Amino acid sequence: MKYYPELVDEIAFKRDITVEQLCVFLDVETNPDVSYLHEKARGTTKRVYGNGIYIRGLIELTNYCKNNCYYCGIRCENREIQRYRLTKDQVMQCCEEGHRLGFRTFVLQGGEDPYFTDEKICEIVRDIRRQYPDCAITLSLGEKEKESYQRYYDAGANRYLLRHETADETHYRKLHPPQMDFHHRIRCLRDLKQIGYQTGCGMMVGSPGQTVRTIWNDLQFILELQPQMVGIGPFIPQHATPFAKETSGSLEWTLRLLSIIRLLHPSVLLPSTTALGTIHPKGRELGILSGGNVVMPNLSPRDVRDKYLLYDHKANTGEEAAEGLERLRERMQVIGYEILIDRGDFKGQIQEER
Ligand code: 5AD
Repeated sequence: MKYYPELVDEIAFKRDITVEQLCVFLDVETNPDVSYLHEKARGTTKRVYGNGIYIRGLIELTNYCKNNCYYCGIRCENREIQRYRLTKDQVMQCCEEGHRLGFRTFVLQGGEDPYFTDEKICEIVRDIRRQYPDCAITLSLGEKEKESYQRYYDAGANRYLLRHETADETHYRKLHPPQMDFHHRIRCLRDLKQIGYQTGCGMMVGSPGQTVRTIWNDLQFILELQPQMVGIGPFIPQHATPFAKETSGSLEWTLRLLSIIRLLHPSVLLPSTTALGTIHPKGRELGILSGGNVVMPNLSPRDVRDKYLLYDHKANTGEEAAEGLERLRERMQVIGYEILIDRGDFKGQIQEER
């Protein structure tokens, strides 16, 4: 089916999309040029957030993980990687450097590592909260019980990222071992929202077994959950995982989906992800030009950066790393955007104030 600019206006107006419409947007061969889709998404971002780009300092707390997801390089069965954990002092040093550079959000991300008990996590959160009352604390530490999420929240965490990975249960089972439960993951997201976190879900683009229909399910899930953030990036194979021989997700689909998500959920915080920056040298810029408004440079200590390898060739030099902030700023300026020193909270209606 042919692509018409009117179709873009329609999904933007209705804030909904049919499977047939999604097929049109994702049919790259028949519809190689979707510039109006990206233009409209960009305009929508500017209307809500202006031309400012929010930055988040990513601190990769641990690459130990008890899970064994088929796509992920830090799965427990991968014996090829060197495992590490940051100490609280290391985390605090990352925050100190980050704050000096202008970061006002710290993202603590890690595998599901039982070493980091609720007690330890709360301690780190409390320390950051005390030292940096002007900053937002985002956690991305996987599936927990509601009680644990509540404890982190009470300790001072504001946001939580947990990609749902796919909203289709059958597809979920193709990506994860039987011990992992699709319903638990979805429940986690609902718990997080209910507690009052600014919550982020998301999925990889082009993961094995993904179809236009599963993506459509992802979009419906996003419309229903109304998360404050959505993280999407291309799937990239990691050589020591069961998906080593699979092909990467496409740049083109990722960019189109970023734009579609922006139009369906105008106020969402939408990062132009590291994975996107990995598959294309201008990936970060292209993500912003497709409606993204967040980038998450790496603030982890230099010596652990090459160990947090979810996928092969992960971008970890230059603009990815926090030292490259100045270069990132220039690159954003070239395309007409400005990096902000700001917590970068969600600007929609559905936020719980805190
Ligand atoms: N390629 C791209 N993204 C990946 N992730 C994990 N493994 C890969 C991969 N091989 C993503 C998942 C996870 C997030 C932390 O990184 O979506 O939720």
